[in-house]
Parts: sequence; C-alpha cells; structure tokens
Amino acid sequence: MPEKKRATTARTSSAKKKAPRRKSAPKSKPTPSMKEATLITGASGGIGEALAGEFAKGGSNLILVARSKDKLETIAKRLMDEHGIAAIALPADLSKPNAGRKLYEAVIAKGVHVETLVNNAGILEMGAFADISTKRHLELTHLNITTLTELTSLFVPGMIERKDGRILNVASIAAFQPIPSLATYAATKAYVLSLTESLSEELKPHGITATALCPGVTGTDMVAGAKESNDAAAKIPDFMISDVAGVAAEGYAACTKGEVIRVPGMVNLAAAVAGRASPRWLVRAVSGALGRLAL
Ligand SMILES: NC(=O)c1ccc[n+]([C@@H]2O[C@H](COP(=O)([O-])OP(=O)(O)OC[C@H]3O[C@@H](n4cnc5c(N)ncnc54)[C@H](OP(=O)(O)O)[C@@H]3O)[C@@H](O)[C@H]2O)c1
Repeated sequence: MPEKKRATTARTSSAKKKAPRRKSAPKSKPTPSMKEATLITGASGGIGEALAGEFAKGGSNLILVARSKDKLETIAKRLMDEHGIAAIALPADLSKPNAGRKLYEAVIAKGVHVETLVNNAGILEMGAFADISTKRHLELTHLNITTLTELTSLFVPGMIERKDGRILNVASIAAFQPIPSLATYAATKAYVLSLTESLSEELKPHGITATALCPGVTGTDMVAGAKESNDAAAKIPDFMISDVAGVAAEGYAACTKGEVIRVPGMVNLAAAVAGRASPRWLVRAVSGALGRLAL
C-alpha cells in the first residue's frame, strides 16, 4: 500500500545488481522495474499530477495516464529522480470507447499489479445544458463515468484475489447537489460519489478501501478554462480557490487511511454537509438561484 510498501524492490534490485566497473560505463541510472504500482488517470497536470507527487513521496511506483505523452514522461522522470521509485507513462484518450480495457490490457501485459487505482481524469463543461453539444455531453459522461467504472470493474477482481487494494475516485463538491449551469458535470460527480460509497461497503470484507475525494474549486487548468469562458466563473474570488497541493495531500491521506469521503477545506465541508442535510426542494432552490447566475 502507498504508506506501507515503499519502493524497496526498485531500490534493492538495482543496488544488488551492480554492473562490473568499466571505465567507459555510462553514468545514467538504470530504470527501476515494478511489480506493483499506483495507477493515476489524468496525471499530466492539476490534481492528478499533484497526487502522483504524493504517492511517489510515499514510495509507490507509478503508472501515469493522460493524453499528453510528453508531459507524462517528464513527470515520470522527475518523480523517479526525486523519489527513487519506478514510473511509466501510458498515454491514452480515456474518453474513447474501450479505452479502459485497452489500458488494463497494457498494464497486465507489463506484469504489474495495480495496488491503488486513482480515477482522477475528468472534464467540466459550464453553460446551459441545451447550448452544450450532444457530442460534448457524451465525452464528459464517458470520461467521468464510463471509463472510471470500466477501470474499476477491471482492476477490482485482482484486488479481491490479492485481498488488498485501494481505490481513490476524484469526485467533487458538485456531487452533493444539482448545479444548473454544470448539470451534466454535477450529475457525473454524484455518480462517482454514490459508486464509491457503495464500493466502500461491498469491498470492505475483501480488505479493499474506496475513497471519494470531493474538492471545491481548485486552482488548476480546469478552473482557468471555466474562468476564461464564463463571466460568473471569472468572478470567483481567489480566497475560494483551493491550492492544488493541499487538495492532493488530503486525497492521499484519506486514501491511505481508507476514509470513504474527504472534502478538503472547512467552507467546502460545510457546504457538503448542508447539501446532504437540507430538504431537496431547498437545495434545488438555492443551487438553482446561484446556478442561473452563470447562464
Ligand atoms: N479543479 C477543480 O476545481 C476541481 C474541483 C473538484 C473536482 N475536480 C476534479 O478533479 C479531477 C482533476 O481535475 P483538474 O482540476 O486537475 O483538471 P485539469 O488540470 O484540467 O487536469 C485534467 C487531467 O485529466 C486529463 N484528461 C483530460 N481529458 C482526458 C482524456 N480524454 N483522456 C485521458 N486523460 C484526460 C488531462 O490530461 P491530458 O489533457 O493530457 O489528457 C489532465 O491530466 C477531475 O475529475 C475534476 O472533475 C476538480
């Protein structure tokens, strides 16, 4: 597990197999191999990249997934150099049909056990539901829901067999209430939260934990994009924007402790609790009034 299993395999194997001393021997470090790893989707930037840093610091080997091959490879190299772990980049567009299965098969072909699955990749589209193209709604639901479910369903049986495993799903504070102007996005995150809660109970007897990280607005490219394209989003004050490193640190801590739901930040936590405790008509009325400001 991230805390328990440090990257001893990688370190000790390279230490034992010292190459014979030769004057002309190249100085570059051998790439450590891996048997177990944490797989992180959406690891080329934002919360996913920061989570990769946290898991690497904790000694986990990494499989980094996103579309941007160059970014992933740069991050993998940096984390290997900084933390002595093994890390590989597996570029993939996870919004495409069967992307989850192809990724799973690529991991199995490398003989790696995924000890922790971090479903972080996600996209957001802000605006009136009717103004967003059908293609974009489907891309969003495919990435945020379908691939997340596909990967979880493919990797969980191996975890059950080994009686060991962790799942960290990045949901959102948007999971706790409907949000006009973010209707599809909020619905996908409600799904992620619900799935995670169900799995946390189902998988408990197998020694597997499932955690939903539910950040509020966090300073990543996703929010920068929303601010650029929407006047209401542009007005979000800086003090309401969480720091990406802090969010990732909370996600890592919650995952290693096996917590089911973690909402970083007191204001976000209060909003999440209020969303769950209030009658649905009141939640709809408040989020409706706020959400319509963004349309
Ligand atoms: N930022 C926030 O305010 C906030 C709040 C709550 C929850 N979240 C959630 O946190 C997660 C990460 O968001 P973020 O803010 O870190 O976003 P981000 O900075 O935009 O990063 C998104 C990551 O997902 C990858 N990605 C996007 N489309 C992909 C695709 N089709 N296939 C594979 N990878 C893809 C991106 O890499 P490539 O472009 O290289 O593919 C990138 O690595 C998301 O699930 C988001 O919903 C964010």
